Amino acid sequence: MKSRVLSGMRPTGKLHFGHLHGVLKNWLRLQDEYECFFFSADWHALTSEYENTENLKDYILDNIIDWLSVGIDPDKATVFVQSKVIEHAELNLIFGMITPLSWLERNPTYKEQLQEIKNKDLQTFGFLGYPVLQAADILIYKAHYVPVGIDQVPHVELTREIARRFNYIFKVELFPVPEPLLTDTPKLLGTDGRKMSKSYNNSIYLSDKPEVIENKILTMMTDPHRVRKTDKGDPDLCPLFLFHKIYTSEEERKEIIHNCKNALFGCRDCKKILLGKMKPEIDSYWEKRNYYTENLDRVNDIISEGNKKAKTFAEKVINEVRNAVGL
Ligand code: TRP
Repeated sequence: MKSRVLSGMRPTGKLHFGHLHGVLKNWLRLQDEYECFFFSADWHALTSEYENTENLKDYILDNIIDWLSVGIDPDKATVFVQSKVIEHAELNLIFGMITPLSWLERNPTYKEQLQEIKNKDLQTFGFLGYPVLQAADILIYKAHYVPVGIDQVPHVELTREIARRFNYIFKVELFPVPEPLLTDTPKLLGTDGRKMSKSYNNSIYLSDKPEVIENKILTMMTDPHRVRKTDKGDPDLCPLFLFHKIYTSEEERKEIIHNCKNALFGCRDCKKILLGKMKPEIDSYWEKRNYYTENLDRVNDIISEGNKKAKTFAEKVINEVRNAVGL
């Protein structure tokens, strides 16, 4: 029996290379080793985007097309949409009954976001309950591992506490206590050297045409101190070099460092080398993306199949839950 892995992503925009190297490459490795469930967390998107739902469906489809294009394989992993498996909602409701308010109010992510996000009203029941819903997502599949970024660890912690509390109150060993899977992911920055984010307009999207990606790399910021080609550069200050760390071999990178530090080549030469390395991957994604966008029926079939598989699993567990609770 393989252990189960579950992870989700909120469909709040197009996916970029930060998502590729921060999340998707991880999922690709995991799908070969574990029984994986990967889903688009549309209810979680609603917790903060409840006033902007006009693009929600498009983002779900677009995100899942990206997953498939980079190699998430529906024969290996179950790919589905959260709101199509209503058992998550029933479990969320039941967990709501046993989760102390104080656990939610002291959640660091919650406190931080209330502080930081001022353009939306997040003083809602749904937003406070975000981690309860996340616990339901995880535990409805009795997942053992949850690959997440460091920012999500408090949510997995809460999931562990909720699993234990449920088992204790209802005197069952129904839920495993899941573990976060923290893998260190390479850091990437946007084309302007800041964090890659849609709000900065500095992202390289998985859905960008190969020419567009090429152009974004060629105009990307490099070491800001290297103004002229004759200036010596420092790869450690260069956002482009973060891409080289992913795409270029150690040996070639040594040469790049040497050439940069001694001004033996220009940034444009360095970018051309990088693009040569990225090209096979970019072309392959683009080719698969084209296939899926031209065969949307196929994508919708994959999603319906995934929804069905997820639901079959979730139905069994929700029945066990109803029994344990005494409903
Ligand atoms: N909260 C996660 C994020 O913002 C998305 C998510 C929702 C999730 N449910 C999940 C991740 C369950 C892992 C497991 O990234």
